[in-house]
Amino acid sequence: MNTPDANKQNAKPFLDALNKKPVSRIPMWFMRQAGRYLPEYRELRAGKNGFLDMAYDPVAACEVTMQPIRRFHMDAAILFSDILVVPHALGQHLEFVPGVGPKLDALDCPGDLNRLSRDNFHTVLGPVYETVKNVRTALSEEGFDDVALIGFAGSPWTVATYMIEGGSSRDFLKTKEMAYRDPDGFSAIIDLLVEMTAEYCIAQVDAGAQALQLFDSWVSALDADQFGRWVTRPTSDIVSRIRKVYPDIPIIGFPKGAGINYLSYVDQTGITAAGMDSSLPVDWAAENLQTRLPVQGNLDPFCLLAGGQALDDAIDRILQNLSGGPFVFNLGHGINKDTPIAHVEQAIARVRGFKP
Ligand code: CP3
Repeated sequence: MNTPDANKQNAKPFLDALNKKPVSRIPMWFMRQAGRYLPEYRELRAGKNGFLDMAYDPVAACEVTMQPIRRFHMDAAILFSDILVVPHALGQHLEFVPGVGPKLDALDCPGDLNRLSRDNFHTVLGPVYETVKNVRTALSEEGFDDVALIGFAGSPWTVATYMIEGGSSRDFLKTKEMAYRDPDGFSAIIDLLVEMTAEYCIAQVDAGAQALQLFDSWVSALDADQFGRWVTRPTSDIVSRIRKVYPDIPIIGFPKGAGINYLSYVDQTGITAAGMDSSLPVDWAAENLQTRLPVQGNLDPFCLLAGGQALDDAIDRILQNLSGGPFVFNLGHGINKDTPIAHVEQAIARVRGFKP
């Protein structure tokens, strides 16, 4: 029935903020909101063989995606998966080693690209698209009509660092060396990632994702010239490819640690909104970013871990500076696995209770 109340129920504050529309409340969600700090996640995870097993299981992955929605009623659900499924679907060996992190069969030179193939890409990722469909169904069946579903992918630079280093890295030595010594060869890796990442994002929207986030976690390793070449340009290519198919899909770009390069990034990529890491001063962001586009962020996840008065104060500072314009409250990076649930509840209550 189309009563005013029903209309209100159907509004999604998260999508409204991204579309620069008035919001009924400040939308919020947390990066890595589905994960090890939740007992219900740990319980489900214990019954599975490993992280990848769970990510490729459309029933389990849907369940995990829904956990923080059921517990906290966040304004957005984010697909439970990982940025490294893209190289995995291109045939690169990937495993998540407990206590260590991701391990891939490293590409030592651009020629190693011939070990990869796009032939099975969408077949391998089929279960992820199935998860997206399942989450949309679950959100609707469980009455979360005001919650939007975010799909995501890693951006080419960040994904390339894992493909070339063979896992997490402190200094990205091999990747940076390849980018400087053999820019044409390195471009071939980035270009393949641009194409496949765009296809992956489009397929997630086909399946029901209502917004997308591009994670570029390791851009702080790059100087301004390399940032333009390996971050801004490829991101802009991905955005245009997606927009050819879905002109109106909101895309959040998250170039963590970009600093002053945020300015060229928001001007040149065509993203809808900027995800901000915790190092960005919120008064600077209000003046220089939020005047151009909606912003999302940027509570320090370790402040959330610590809790107490410092947490309330940090939240108030963010809201005082950013709640006047299009804004989505979030962390500046993923939630730490040791974060007490009580602190998450405290943060949510503080944001929900904020009166500008
Ligand atoms: O935000 C969400 O709740 C959605 C799910 C999600 C995961 N990873 C689940 C995950 C998202 C959006 C990611 C993105 C991701 N993955 C990034 C970009 C964001 C960031 O954190 O910088 C990166 C760099 C990765 C790569 C990755 N995945 C690493 C380095 C690790 C190991 C480190 C760790 O935390 O253990 C992962 C594993 C991973 N991805 C876990 C989760 C919940 C932990 C796996 C487990 O349960 O053992």
